[in-house]
Amino acid sequence: ATVDKSGHRHFMAKEMAEQPSIIQKALAAYTNEADGILNLPEGVQFNDIRRVVMVACGTAFYACQVAKYWFEQIARIPVEIDIASEFRYRDPVLERDDLLIVVSQSGETADTLAALRHVAGHVRRTLAVVNVPTSSIAREADVVMPILAGPEIGVASTKAFTAQLLSLLLLAAKAGLDRGKMNADDLTTLMSEIQAAPGLMSQALDRAQEYARIAEELAESDDVLFLGRGAMFPMALEAALKLKEISYIHAEAYAAGELKHGPIALIDKTLPVVIFAPRDVLFEKTISNMQEVMARHGQVILLTDADGAKLAGEVQNVIVMPKAPTIVAPLIYAIPAQMLAYNTALARGTDVDQPRNLAKSVTVE
Ligand code: G6P
Repeated sequence: ATVDKSGHRHFMAKEMAEQPSIIQKALAAYTNEADGILNLPEGVQFNDIRRVVMVACGTAFYACQVAKYWFEQIARIPVEIDIASEFRYRDPVLERDDLLIVVSQSGETADTLAALRHVAGHVRRTLAVVNVPTSSIAREADVVMPILAGPEIGVASTKAFTAQLLSLLLLAAKAGLDRGKMNADDLTTLMSEIQAAPGLMSQALDRAQEYARIAEELAESDDVLFLGRGAMFPMALEAALKLKEISYIHAEAYAAGELKHGPIALIDKTLPVVIFAPRDVLFEKTISNMQEVMARHGQVILLTDADGAKLAGEVQNVIVMPKAPTIVAPLIYAIPAQMLAYNTALARGTDVDQPRNLAKSVTVE
């Protein structure tokens, strides 16, 4: 079947808008309606697993980076992550009771497929988290978890990213259960936090005017710096990647705590610095990094919730995000990461759906 833009200006806009309903549907598909208990594909289990190794490229790799925090926090299981092009050539140490998780929208990325082939037979099990269930990666993995995002046409991945995040969060929950790190009550609490995500994502999408206003500023810049801590660090990485891909503006992301180890030297009044800082346990640390930026006259754009905005004091630009449970905050803050890039590309007049030099799926090395 052909896919159209359903009235949107670009596939990317349509795919961003679809995210709340996709997450809602995937959640329904992976839980039992009666009791809200996880209903994951046959073969997804962590009883015989002592370590998770996750491998991917591009945006899918950033989903792995978020998932590392989730698996460690929820399931207390060691997690190693790597980009596929490094993993396949570095002779990684693999153990019999490792689970390899490969994450790929297309299921055809050459390096990710090669990484999967490289470990086959050396680990207990391989699990593919893919959007295309008929893909090579899906065919070759032992177990498949489809992310259920539907066809993604825009070269810059958006809905596949949040759908990958949801699938990985559900896998972390399953690992927590299987390893006895979570009981039925913990699962109920977690699931109700996850159920809130689609509504919060819709609210985040509703900030259209604010994204457009900030994007006018970003569009005038030659460089943009993104900062975040914890799972907001990979959000900063994803935001920088999206901006580079579709607006061709140079962007970098740093863990906020690394600011003083280099990027602080770049800060002057011409540099926009976008800071991901929901009001969580790391909030105060991130805000103190924001103050270091302000003291050097960087142009701060703070993404936080209403509580955070109150505590942050006087800041040049704040986009107030809906208040989200910490565990699902990456699903919510993915939206401004995408929307800022999209609106900046619009302001610059670049080809959003077909950015120069990029391919939707990289099937050669
Ligand atoms: C390309 C695409 C990215 C994608 C990456 C990995 O670079 O432009 O959007 O994140 O490949 O693709 P995969 O299909 O393996 O997720």
